[in-house]
Amino acid sequence: MLRITPYIQELLNPTPLKPARKPKGPVVIWNLIRRCNLMCKHCYSISVDTDFPGELSTDKIYTVMDDLKAFGVPVLILSGGEPLMHKDIYTISQRAKDMGFYVALSTNGTLINADNIQQIADMGYDYVGISLDGIGKTHDQFRRQEGAFDASLEAVRLCRQNNIKIGLRFTLTQDNQEQFPKMLELLETEEIDKFYLSHLNYGGRGNKNRKDDVYHQMTRQAMEKLFETCLNTLRAGKTREFVTGNNDADGVFLLHWAKKHFPEQAAHLQAKLEQWGGNSSGVNIANIDNLGTVHPDTFWWNYDLGNVQDRPFSEIWQDTSDPLMAGLKQNPRPLKGRCASCKYLKICGGNTRVRAYQVTGDAWNEDPGCYLSDEEVT
Ligand SMILES: C[S@@+](CC[C@H](N)C(=O)[O-])C[C@H]1O[C@@H](n2cnc3c(N)ncnc32)[C@H](O)[C@@H]1O
Ligand code: SF4
Repeated sequence: MLRITPYIQELLNPTPLKPARKPKGPVVIWNLIRRCNLMCKHCYSISVDTDFPGELSTDKIYTVMDDLKAFGVPVLILSGGEPLMHKDIYTISQRAKDMGFYVALSTNGTLINADNIQQIADMGYDYVGISLDGIGKTHDQFRRQEGAFDASLEAVRLCRQNNIKIGLRFTLTQDNQEQFPKMLELLETEEIDKFYLSHLNYGGRGNKNRKDDVYHQMTRQAMEKLFETCLNTLRAGKTREFVTGNNDADGVFLLHWAKKHFPEQAAHLQAKLEQWGGNSSGVNIANIDNLGTVHPDTFWWNYDLGNVQDRPFSEIWQDTSDPLMAGLKQNPRPLKGRCASCKYLKICGGNTRVRAYQVTGDAWNEDPGCYLSDEEVT
């Protein structure tokens, strides 16, 4: 994940490079439930509206939570499926908050309404991310449910009225790329705190439908638009955050953009981006799925590292006898092709290994989602 806002802020007001903070444990994205009321075209968890047998019990979830806390995990992102369909979502959330985790809820928003908004507000979530993949019909078609857009927008408004920090999550594909500017306008009119541009990753239905991924040229246009919007927002004195995920080439593209628009700050930005270091799957990002299986990130559901029913997460996470984990934790990673020789490897860290794996069968091949030209990486 790349936080665009602080880096563009650095171009306007540079601050000294500080020693990098090293969190002890990773951020954990936890798919508490796989059931979902929607059936989105790109969904990595291949969720549907049915029960999935063998999901972790709430007691087991608490045991795992204790291990995560002791291991130094700072953030829990409660996800799914649709996490609001979990029967114990509020008690689980409350316990996580009481234990001092930063707790985020990752929801499609359609189940947030006047009846439960107070309960959601009372949880004190540090952040609620609501997915919106376009305006009106575009979103409904993407999410395969008529009325989904209206319901999610209503959720956005209810959260705003209840002072819950929210963000929109938008997955960019050919189906919705022309609506990207409208999404940024929506952010402004609804005064939303945060915007997360999620590049398509090749997991689950997202892999099956990977032909819908945007062409590299579309990605470049969207990223330039995002940088400009972020810059204008900062210049207007607003505090909105812009973030991207699933394509760490964004850091390198930002550097090239800065070279053009802020040449005197480019070296400074480069140092800051190298400190960020790009992709951190298997290092600072972890995933536990609904059955308790641990993965290097949410898009590696076809790759099991072990199950929290058998071994504590802390043990599984540190076990580098697994070849994928060993490679992900290596610095630099054992990359091949264009990624191995990339001049900016220190910034992007080799980008998204799942895409390389899904397209070529080898996790260490170059990432087909890297949209930089050969000139930009050599
Ligand atoms: C799996 S959903 C679970 C939470 C909730 N049901 C929702 O849709 O927001 C979490 C996030 O991952 C995004 N997502 C799902 N599959 C993806 C893929 N293949 N590539 C990129 N993002 C994806 C969704 O759009 C959503 O924002
Ligand atoms: S992306 Fe979210 S809302 Fe869509 S099917 Fe998957 S879990 Fe459900």
